[in-house]
Amino acid sequence: MVPILALLGAGAVMFRVVEAASVFSHFMVQNSYSYAESDWQNDMTTAASIGIDGFALNIAAADYEVGQLVTAFSVAEQLGFKLFLSFDMSYTWESSDMVSIVQNHSDSSAMYTWNNAVLVSTYAGDNYDDSFWSGFKSSLSSEGITISLAPAFTDYRDPSLADSLLSDFSSIDGFFNWWSWPDDVDANLTTATDLAYQAVIKSNRTGPYIMSVSPWQFKNLGTSDTDWVELSDTLWYYRWLQAIQDVNPDIVEIVTWNDYAESHYIGDINPNVNLGDLAPNYVNSNFTHASWRNVAQYFISWYKNGSAPTVTNDQVVFWYRGWPKATSCSTGSPPRNSDFPVDAVFALSLLSSEATVGLYIGSNSFSWDAPAGASMGSVPFPSEDSQIPYIAISRDGNTTKSGYGSLYVQQSDCSYYNFNPYVGIVE
Ligand SMILES: *[C@@H]1O[C@H](CO)[C@@H](O)[C@H](O)[C@H]1NC(C)=O
Ligand SMILES: *[C@@H]1O[C@H](CO)[C@@H](O)[C@H](O)[C@H]1NC(C)=O
Ligand SMILES: *[C@@H]1O[C@H](CO)[C@@H](O)[C@H](O)[C@H]1NC(C)=O
Ligand SMILES: *[C@@H]1O[C@H](CO)[C@@H](O)[C@H](O)[C@H]1NC(C)=O
Ligand SMILES: *[C@@H]1O[C@H](CO)[C@@H](O)[C@H](O)[C@H]1NC(C)=O
Ligand SMILES: *[C@@H]1O[C@H](CO)[C@@H](O)[C@H](O)[C@H]1NC(C)=O
Repeated sequence: MVPILALLGAGAVMFRVVEAASVFSHFMVQNSYSYAESDWQNDMTTAASIGIDGFALNIAAADYEVGQLVTAFSVAEQLGFKLFLSFDMSYTWESSDMVSIVQNHSDSSAMYTWNNAVLVSTYAGDNYDDSFWSGFKSSLSSEGITISLAPAFTDYRDPSLADSLLSDFSSIDGFFNWWSWPDDVDANLTTATDLAYQAVIKSNRTGPYIMSVSPWQFKNLGTSDTDWVELSDTLWYYRWLQAIQDVNPDIVEIVTWNDYAESHYIGDINPNVNLGDLAPNYVNSNFTHASWRNVAQYFISWYKNGSAPTVTNDQVVFWYRGWPKATSCSTGSPPRNSDFPVDAVFALSLLSSEATVGLYIGSNSFSWDAPAGASMGSVPFPSEDSQIPYIAISRDGNTTKSGYGSLYVQQSDCSYYNFNPYVGIVE
């Protein structure tokens, strides 16, 4: 952690220590098979434009990924964008291959470093024991490369296991808490896991505590272990507040930029990416998430600066599913936890000053007095078929901005169990 001194107010004799805070987004290199340099440029430029510092590159063990990493690092160098490697340990890895990949990019100006060490992270990997990880580090060390290892060991979620993380893995420097959704319960996520693991890392290690922040979780790839939804209705709002107000991690990692099949992508759906046979049933042009980036931009600025930014352009970002959760669909079966999501349109307002935000769909409506900054409201799905929401911002009875969703909420005519939301914006 690099403390920087910030001067508050012109001429004020007052200093405040602000923690250096970085924001990365988890990027599935598995989905870059068809990528040209211009695809990398688009993604990195779009991410940088909302304050994202870099990508955590999730790499499986496929050959084409090695080549795509070379392109990614060269584009990032040109753009001043940062990257770190995040080995996807749900695939089978040889330590020597991981060493070569780190070695190949450790000198890149785009490589993100933590305390002068190359940051290396993972998805999972606690099934590889401590000797695997210490061997990986010492092989790199003998090549003159010091890394800071902050893995997402996914079995360490229960706060009571935090102490054993340190005793089980003497080799780790930091930690990445992958879990940014409720754990198969009809309840909101708390920060208990974050605070417990952050505390043990800070007590005895020098690496970063990385906190994941995610907008959604829904997957439906046709088998019982690839078919679930987690309660995410207001997650994109309260999880950011948890990061900023309760946890203040060294790094926020947005999960994800482009993991389309789990519905938590905040990047655009790249039409060249082969999504397989089933994901296109719920990841297609009707289910864009681009406007979630407006929400991210606001909270990233707040997280980095320590105080909420002033909104200059009123906007309401809203999201909703296309069918009530009990609707029968002609293909497949309802995902695990399908009873948890609330049948409603959710809206997050970002306002320059107090206004009334109205949500209307079919015969239902809801409005709230929204303050300057961020707040949320929701309106339940109506009983009428084929309805589209209308959203209006008004002050003193005058509507200043309004607009419609572009997906109809239907009571039937469902061909696939789809709990991925459409995300729209009035701005
Ligand atoms: C290392 O980089 C070179 C080109 O710079 C590339 O040809 C090679 O495949 C890379 N190897 C690994 C293991 O990343
Ligand atoms: C989750 O939090 C939201 C507010 O962000 C609240 O409206 C909702 O009732 C909570 N859900 C549960 C299951 O507690
Ligand atoms: C962690 O604990 C060990 C054993 O008590 C100690 O030797 C080491 O200096 C500690 N490291 C840090 C960074 O606190
Ligand atoms: C979404 O859009 C495509 C056209 O881009 C269309 O073929 C498809 O049926 C639409 N509906 C759903 C529910 O995915
Ligand atoms: C950062 O916060 C300070 C107050 O703490 C404020 O004066 C300044 O405008 C903020 N900067 C940005 C970019 O929001
Ligand atoms: C509301 O609109 C009316 C009619 O255009 C206008 O006369 C009035 O000044 C507006 N009020 C506010 C607060 O903008």
